[in-house]
Amino acid sequence: MSLPFMSAEEAAKFIKHDYNVAFSGFTPAGSPKEVPTALAKLAQAEHDAGKPFKIGMFTGASTGDSLDGALARAHAIKFRTPYQSNNDLKNLINKGEVDYYDMHLSQLAQEMRYNFLGEVDIAIIEAADVNEKGEIVLTSSVGISPTAARLAKKIIIELNENHPAAIKGLHDIYEMQDPPIRRAVPVYTVKDLIGSPVIKVEPSKIIAVVKTNRKDEVKAFTPVDAVTARIGENVANFLANEIKMGRIPAEFLPVQSGVGNIANAVLGSLGANKDIPNFMMYTEVVQDAVIELMEQERLTFVSGCSLTVTPEVLDKIYKNLNFFKPRMILRPQEISNNPEVVRRLGLITINTALEADIFGNINSTQVLGTTMMNGIGGSGDFTRNSFLSMFVCPSVAKNGAISAIVPMVSHMDHSEHSVKVLVTEYGVADLRGKSPNQRAQAIIENCVHPEYKQLLWDYTRLCGKKLHTPHTLSAALAMHCEFLKSGDMRNTQWTVCGK
Ligand code: COA
Repeated sequence: MSLPFMSAEEAAKFIKHDYNVAFSGFTPAGSPKEVPTALAKLAQAEHDAGKPFKIGMFTGASTGDSLDGALARAHAIKFRTPYQSNNDLKNLINKGEVDYYDMHLSQLAQEMRYNFLGEVDIAIIEAADVNEKGEIVLTSSVGISPTAARLAKKIIIELNENHPAAIKGLHDIYEMQDPPIRRAVPVYTVKDLIGSPVIKVEPSKIIAVVKTNRKDEVKAFTPVDAVTARIGENVANFLANEIKMGRIPAEFLPVQSGVGNIANAVLGSLGANKDIPNFMMYTEVVQDAVIELMEQERLTFVSGCSLTVTPEVLDKIYKNLNFFKPRMILRPQEISNNPEVVRRLGLITINTALEADIFGNINSTQVLGTTMMNGIGGSGDFTRNSFLSMFVCPSVAKNGAISAIVPMVSHMDHSEHSVKVLVTEYGVADLRGKSPNQRAQAIIENCVHPEYKQLLWDYTRLCGKKLHTPHTLSAALAMHCEFLKSGDMRNTQWTVCGK
């Protein structure tokens, strides 16, 4: 059977209104570009003709603008899961036009297999190579592609010549069996290969192959500033001291680092700290800073799910495959984020909070409890199961009008039971072994911005008596209410119901 090459426009016509479509990719890395662009145009044309056209979308995580952005602007999305970060899509989610189901990234593939989310009509997979036997070499990420390709009734391949076929071997394709016959995931060290370098599908399922050479739409991070540099140094100094105290083995443990600007800065600081030995990462997103650490030979190996690096850095990796390929593995997200493996390997996990409360509960996803930022991503997969879970954030947002540390988080993604250490530019609160009262002391003393310290000390005394958790429920969200009223949490006045 020869491969069915065709244009993106012809391939897009296979997708019908109300289909569930699964996309390859994890972040803009490896997500299809050409067919989604054509699909958005097709949806627009259908809408112009007065016909409905919306699809349900499964992706690995966020995608590029030519996927999430184009389909959002064409009002072609009915349902979307999991993590996203495109502004046009976010607007529709926050207006209630798109139903968004935010879930732990490690769980998506299995929820698709369990048929919790409906059948997959079509999978669109970006490939570096594909052959008549149905063997697919993925590109810069793995995401949910193995499961999506197996479950989908039909497959469209975007064959992207920007990714050389020589990357075959970078991916470790492994799909778990489902209960009651699930076995252990045999990853015992960061470097273990447990699967196949290719996805293998029934060739007749491949109904279209579309050629393209579009680059991954990964944007550069904002440069490290004084605040993010300080946060990074605080993390690195804390971990170096943990080694000195014998609580982290001298050879160190594998690191997971979250997404975003702060995460990028923290990695730079870990590399710069001479008391931290060369290390490995078992993480989800491989960002630019990871590649820098590898070139400096500070990072000896990385296992991840995606190469979410800027196009220049990806070109560098592809031009130096002899150096980089033996030092990295890309895995499906149910393996890169697998709770069993995370706990077995003993990861040090460092993720970014939008908001924390004085007891150590974390909000990673919802601004003022109502507006979706991006999603929980893999932060829950890692935090709950780590050797040592850390959260980092600047102490204030919006030029000081918002304190990132509040009496009670307006939405909770990670509870005080899972969060061991909180770090801001002011310092580190070590929450291990502490009661809620002790945690509040540690966080206010070490992490809160000076302009908010007194306000938060006053809050802890507001209840007027000793309590296990010194909350005053009628005032717990007063700082958020004050921001909504006056635009500045610093104006908060504590008032207590019935007093
Ligand atoms: N209340 C309201 N807004 C807040 C806030 C708060 N408490 N804290 C931060 N913000 C705002 C900032 O002002 C900024 O808004 P702006 O862009 O309008 O200035 C925005 O939220 C965050 O800035 P951004 O530059 O996007 O931060 P980042 O790149 O460091 O990302 C998260 C931070 C939390 C959004 C990101 O890490 C994330 O999505 N995390 C959840 C998923 C996750 O942890 N995945 C990793 C697992 S591997």
